[in-house]
Amino acid sequence: MKCFTTDGVSFEGLKFEERPEPTELGPDDVLVDVKSVSLNYRDLLVTTGRYGKKPEKSFIVASDMAGIVSRVGSQVKEFKPGDQVLNAPFRFWPGGSLRPEWVKSFVGGGGIDGVLAEKIIYPKYSLVKVPAHLNFHEACTFTIAGLTAWAGLVTHGKILPGEWVLIHGTGGVSTFACMIAQKLGAQVIVTSSSEEKARFVKENYGVKASVDYRDPEWPEQVKKISEGGVHVVIELGGDSLGNSIRACRSYARISLIGVLGGFDSKIDTKEVHRLQMTIKGIYMESTEELRHFMQAVEVWQLRPCIAKVFDFEEAKEAYHYLQSQKHIGKVVISVAK
Ligand SMILES: NC(=O)c1ccc[n+]([C@@H]2O[C@H](COP(=O)([O-])OP(=O)(O)OC[C@H]3O[C@@H](n4cnc5c(N)ncnc54)[C@H](OP(=O)(O)O)[C@@H]3O)[C@@H](O)[C@H]2O)c1
Repeated sequence: MKCFTTDGVSFEGLKFEERPEPTELGPDDVLVDVKSVSLNYRDLLVTTGRYGKKPEKSFIVASDMAGIVSRVGSQVKEFKPGDQVLNAPFRFWPGGSLRPEWVKSFVGGGGIDGVLAEKIIYPKYSLVKVPAHLNFHEACTFTIAGLTAWAGLVTHGKILPGEWVLIHGTGGVSTFACMIAQKLGAQVIVTSSSEEKARFVKENYGVKASVDYRDPEWPEQVKKISEGGVHVVIELGGDSLGNSIRACRSYARISLIGVLGGFDSKIDTKEVHRLQMTIKGIYMESTEELRHFMQAVEVWQLRPCIAKVFDFEEAKEAYHYLQSQKHIGKVVISVAK
């Protein structure tokens, strides 16, 4: 079968490979014919040597797919051939808190084979059925970006209708966060370097206002717009954490998720005490949480924002496109029709 692999060092090491089709199913395993895969910023880190140690050998890239079940193991009652499924990011994190022994099952990074392949085997514990209103291109975008936005706003952010939310950028996680916040009646301020993209999220996802994260005065602007500071922050910049703290009101909750601008930030710890705020680091979530989220997706009939779909043969171009940051929302690769 055809798959797309990385040496974990640079884009030059991204290539198509022929590998034997996976055939040996364990009792709890499911064989999936992959239809669509979406990319995340993490995939750029993984394929350019910025995601942990250099792997010993090349491995299959990407973490998010949707496809059709073609065969199931002897103990699988939850799925049958023909079912449409999407995967959770970890091959094994069924629910509850992440255990150390499960960490190494986060697919598509650190030498662990991912999902950009014609066929994959995935354990039944880590698959979720695709809601009926979604096609494969749409369904494959929820695994990381959708789930992370949900975790930041709902699971940990605990947003309430009317509260102010600050969301950085207009990429995959951000557009999902804008949609979820809109559904929950929160008021959103987006930071963006692009007036055109800011206009898009205002017109499509009810975003109230935008500021430019390159303007050093943006925290004051956010405080003014939100009449005293925001209640919740989806922190995707990383280096902007210190500024995000400046844009908060008392008892604010910050979901610390991304590193788009870098890992380091100067923080005024006095402000964190004074405003009695909570900063919650978010690594990833379980299959159980993905299932909760997909129930909400079905009830809301939520559809992702897809910037562009690439053919399987154009997978490398999809990486370059994601890196160019021209996109709004998600970049998708069509693996099979
Ligand atoms: N911890 C987790 O579980 C988790 C899960 C998913 C993602 N993440 C992280 O979250 C971040 C976003 O991921 P993604 O896949 O949504 O990325 P993405 O789609 O590649 O987002 C790109 C967008 O981010 C914005 N951006 C770029 N530099 C920025 C900066 N310095 N400050 C604020 N915004 C900036 C830009 O928006 P404009 O063009 O509008 O300026 C850009 O278009 C990444 O750092 C990723 O590693 C973490």
